[in-house]
Amino acid sequence: MDKNYFISQDELLKQKEYTRLVKTVLLSRFCDTPKAFVHTYGCQGNVSDGEKLKGMLEEMGYELTDDLNSASLILYNTCAIREHAEDRVFGNVGALKQLKKANPELIIGLCGCMTQQEHIAEKFYKSYPFVNLLFGTHASHRLPEFLYRCLCTGKRVFDNTVCDGNIAESLPVHRDSTFRAWIPIMYGCNNFCSYCIVPYVRGRERSRKFEDIISEVRDVVSQGYKEITLLGQNVNSYNKNEASELRFPALLRAINEIEGDFIIRFMTSHPRDCTYELIDAMAECDKVAKHLHLPFQSGNDRVLKEMNRHYDRAKYLQLIDYAYERMPELSVTSDVIVGFPGETYDEFKDTLSLIEYVKYTSLFTFIFSPRKGTKAFDMEDSVSREEKGRWFKELTDLQEKIAAARTADMKGKVYRVLVEGKSKTDGMLSGRTQGNVIIEFLGDEGLIGEFAHVKVTNPRTWVVYGETV
Ligand code: SAH
Ligand code: SF4
Ligand code: F3S
Repeated sequence: MDKNYFISQDELLKQKEYTRLVKTVLLSRFCDTPKAFVHTYGCQGNVSDGEKLKGMLEEMGYELTDDLNSASLILYNTCAIREHAEDRVFGNVGALKQLKKANPELIIGLCGCMTQQEHIAEKFYKSYPFVNLLFGTHASHRLPEFLYRCLCTGKRVFDNTVCDGNIAESLPVHRDSTFRAWIPIMYGCNNFCSYCIVPYVRGRERSRKFEDIISEVRDVVSQGYKEITLLGQNVNSYNKNEASELRFPALLRAINEIEGDFIIRFMTSHPRDCTYELIDAMAECDKVAKHLHLPFQSGNDRVLKEMNRHYDRAKYLQLIDYAYERMPELSVTSDVIVGFPGETYDEFKDTLSLIEYVKYTSLFTFIFSPRKGTKAFDMEDSVSREEKGRWFKELTDLQEKIAAARTADMKGKVYRVLVEGKSKTDGMLSGRTQGNVIIEFLGDEGLIGEFAHVKVTNPRTWVVYGETV
């Protein structure tokens, strides 16, 4: 693949011109600075896109708000991964009808993975007439142009251009945090797991340039960011389709060399392209958190094959064995799907035994959700929802026991923790260990955004309590 997926300078300049035009329109129409409410659903990749949408809106003259009622523009950045995710968006958008009635000037916009799907865009067009603006994932950088059209014509602007995907560099970013930064390294996915909508709504795999990533990391580190999370649907395919030899392990090593006190995380790693080299790089780079999120989805080879995952149980477990060997303190987390079409209870038991073997710190567990347009959508699925619910409960009960045993082991040990904020319990602070375990302790608010050393005194299953040392 060549690199013609980068949005051209001309196009980016055109959008800058629209930014200026929107700003002028807003100045002429509003006495006070107009407010924009942006809400992002879904994964960190989408959150990162949301930060760019916010950056563009600020540049156009909007002030960001968390208050829906005071907004002149509402933008929902949506997720399509499961039916439940889409239902929530439909519900939340439906609820905006009243706001629009009270304020006909309000602009209601939708973007992200859901809107990239033709049938969804159509549904919003036909059944949600109060939605003025809709665009797909490949057109995000054109937000200034779309808004300008909305503001000037008063007409509905719907654009879900179909393309293989692109990369728009140097968009403004409004980072939600002052100490944790999301840095995408690649976009899209070529894997076509049979259950998954992502390749259809995010286009083909494409990697950012090595030097662009390094320069963004340098930039945020110099601004004082303490945690850098490298993002991609499959970070291990970084530069896989490019002429460059600089693959993901090389990128990790180069970022590790950047001077400063920060930790590096990454997600998600697909076992198919996960190599021993990556594990070596993790083990040898002192700034890389000893946490590996390696989704296995199922412990049964037949099901893995039907899912089109391109690895088997043995390969997955070899990687895990090697990773624990290189990093005995490693924390492993994963995603798993229960009730894939055709899965039998016996096959599901292979998932349980794999969980028992790996001893995950935590798991993201999902019941299979059919996604229109994917291969699994049409597969015969005879196990009832209730039965899948029972399997699901069996799995989560098992994981709860494993997590409790893992956190019990943390008692008395001291962890270096990035303090993320106040906990829900009064006076306590909350952070995460390198292994991604939530840790809460008494401390001064001034510690938020800094590293602290915390000794675990009272481990519970999903949260451990401690004290600073
Ligand atoms: N690219 C990542 C996963 C991204 S989606 C990877 O391949 O590891 C996050 C998780 O959502 C997946 O790992 C999977 O467990 C779950 N998921 C995706 N599609 C799903 C579906 N149709 N039904 C249920 N869970 C699904
Ligand atoms: Fe979806 Fe599979 Fe791609 Fe992950 S690797 S985003 S599960 S298709
Ligand atoms: Fe959802 Fe799109 Fe992410 S479908 S999980 S927001 S890539």
